[in-house]
Amino acid sequence: MSTSLDAGADTATELSGWASIRRLAATWLLPRWGEVAGSLACAVVVAASTALALYLLDPVIKSVFGAHRPKFTEILWVPAAFIVVGGVRGIAQVGQATLVNRVGHSIVGEIQLSLFSRLIRADLARLRQQHSGAYLSSVLYDATLIREGLTTGVVNYTQNALQVVGMFGVMAYEDWLLTLVVFGAAPVAAWVMRRFGKRTRKAATGAMAETSALSTAVMESLDGVKVVKIDNREAFEEGRVGEVIDRRQRFIIKGANARAAAAPAAETLTTVVTAAVITYAAWRGLGLNQLMVFLGALGAMSQSLRQLANLQTVIAEGLTAAGRLFQALDVAPEIADAAGAPALAVTDAAIAFDHVSFAYNPETPDPTWALADVSLTVRRGETVALVGPSGGGKSTLLNLIPRFYDVTGGQVTVDGQDIRSVKLASLRDQIALVTQEPFLFDDTIRANIAYARPGAGQAEIEAAARAAAAHEFITALPGGYDAQVGEAGARLSGGQRQRIAIARAFLKNAPVLLLDEATSALDTESEVKVQEALERLMAGRTTLLIAHRLSTVRKADRIYVIAEGRVEEIGDHETLMASGGLYARLARAQALNAPNAAADPVAAAR
Ligand SMILES: Nc1ncnc2c1ncn2[C@@H]1O[C@H](COP(=O)(O)OP(=O)(O)O)[C@@H](O)[C@H]1O
Ligand SMILES: [Mg+2]
Repeated sequence: MSTSLDAGADTATELSGWASIRRLAATWLLPRWGEVAGSLACAVVVAASTALALYLLDPVIKSVFGAHRPKFTEILWVPAAFIVVGGVRGIAQVGQATLVNRVGHSIVGEIQLSLFSRLIRADLARLRQQHSGAYLSSVLYDATLIREGLTTGVVNYTQNALQVVGMFGVMAYEDWLLTLVVFGAAPVAAWVMRRFGKRTRKAATGAMAETSALSTAVMESLDGVKVVKIDNREAFEEGRVGEVIDRRQRFIIKGANARAAAAPAAETLTTVVTAAVITYAAWRGLGLNQLMVFLGALGAMSQSLRQLANLQTVIAEGLTAAGRLFQALDVAPEIADAAGAPALAVTDAAIAFDHVSFAYNPETPDPTWALADVSLTVRRGETVALVGPSGGGKSTLLNLIPRFYDVTGGQVTVDGQDIRSVKLASLRDQIALVTQEPFLFDDTIRANIAYARPGAGQAEIEAAARAAAAHEFITALPGGYDAQVGEAGARLSGGQRQRIAIARAFLKNAPVLLLDEATSALDTESEVKVQEALERLMAGRTTLLIAHRLSTVRKADRIYVIAEGRVEEIGDHETLMASGGLYARLARAQALNAPNAAADPVAAAR
């Protein structure tokens, strides 16, 4: 099971670090350049005032401990300057934090929205390849990592890097020779930082992948909660999720350990350098003021260096997350409008399949053909039924009409126009689809019926509900049309959900109607009601229906028997019965005389 966004690695290659940085900056920092520049300016002020405060230490010590104590009034400017510098530093810090927060959180929102907008427009084929858990973790966590890396990371990095430079300046001002000695430790410090940086980065990448695996595992267990419960597999699911948590934990601990180990390493280095400074001071006879400033600068510098090491990780995590994000954003849907495609011109709403073949995996060397050489026609007012064993390709055929998938060979036309050559939205405007498990949104009944036509008025909605035999039960609900249906319509029965879906189709009033086992999931009583509603809906439209029970199929103008991706037989009920083929066998097994026979023709045909 592919559980990460890497599923699209073939279509979008991961960007290198620099390319990611350039693109991050261009996409999200450049439009906010004012705020970004402001926060960087604040960072400069913070760094400079830190250095200045240390620099002021020199006259302080001189005045307090020096041989010739200056007059009180002469030295009064020093404490005053301390207050001013401290105040400026504080204001700059607040400014930096405020700006960084503003930029950062607006970036998170934008990333989340652009990811979702990609997701909702993605090809079905792609959505089926990856688990939604991976996307969820991208939307929730990766966006936050990018914010941290891009804003907090970059601005604080700048501040600390400048602080290191400032400290060097202060030291050089006090004693340039000693500064050179300190500088000798720089390569060692750099080596330490790089070493720990690499380790934490590796841990971060691992942790990120496991985070998406975790949300996938949790979502999957919850999606299948009924199966889990009926089979008493809670402990198993616990173990499964526990394993992912363990793996994620190990990466996180590794990263934290590397970071923790970086601190003593930096401290040891600082201790060695401090010892060198003290030795030098003793040998050259450095003044107390110089020594104090020097040691102070050294301490501040090592703190900044440690911060830099941490921020490196933050930035690295942000970059890794950005790589994943761009990979997800860069997959353009293949099923899209051709350049300059005209709107579909509907006259007769006649659908034709012309030697259509289709494979879900067309790019593999030996594709499995879900449909092979299928030709079929339906005109307005006609009902064509598709029957045949499960897995034969009926749903696949239906899915090609609204271009959920594109044909691999041949073509599908509506009124003579290849559906790939017209505007996608204009094609889908002409089609209503009712499936076995209708989907309702967690909203009111009104909003669910009006989903295809958000502007529809109460009279139209009510008319649609009446036609779908739904008005009665809706008005009996507390709240009526404004009753909430619950998540995925959980507060309604299957038959009620189905009638809402049919009302939706009535309101859409599209000339093409696709029914994929619309009555199969219902009990006998709702099935009768739904069946009647469907027959009203089918009148005057181009209807393609897949039926589980052959009783619904009898009335069709033409029946296509589909098995193993091929059209096995064509004809009406009488002709097919007379010919004694697959259809006749399916029909006999189901005793078609009983109008709502519950037997499964598929099982019987095997
Ligand atoms: N999303 C998919 N990805 C890969 N194969 C699929 C997918 N959906 C269906 N199939 C395969 O295509 C074949 C036809 O399936 P389907 O059209 O659902 O059959 P039917 O609706 O007649 O039961 C089956 O072999 C099935 O396994
Ligand atoms: Mg099917």
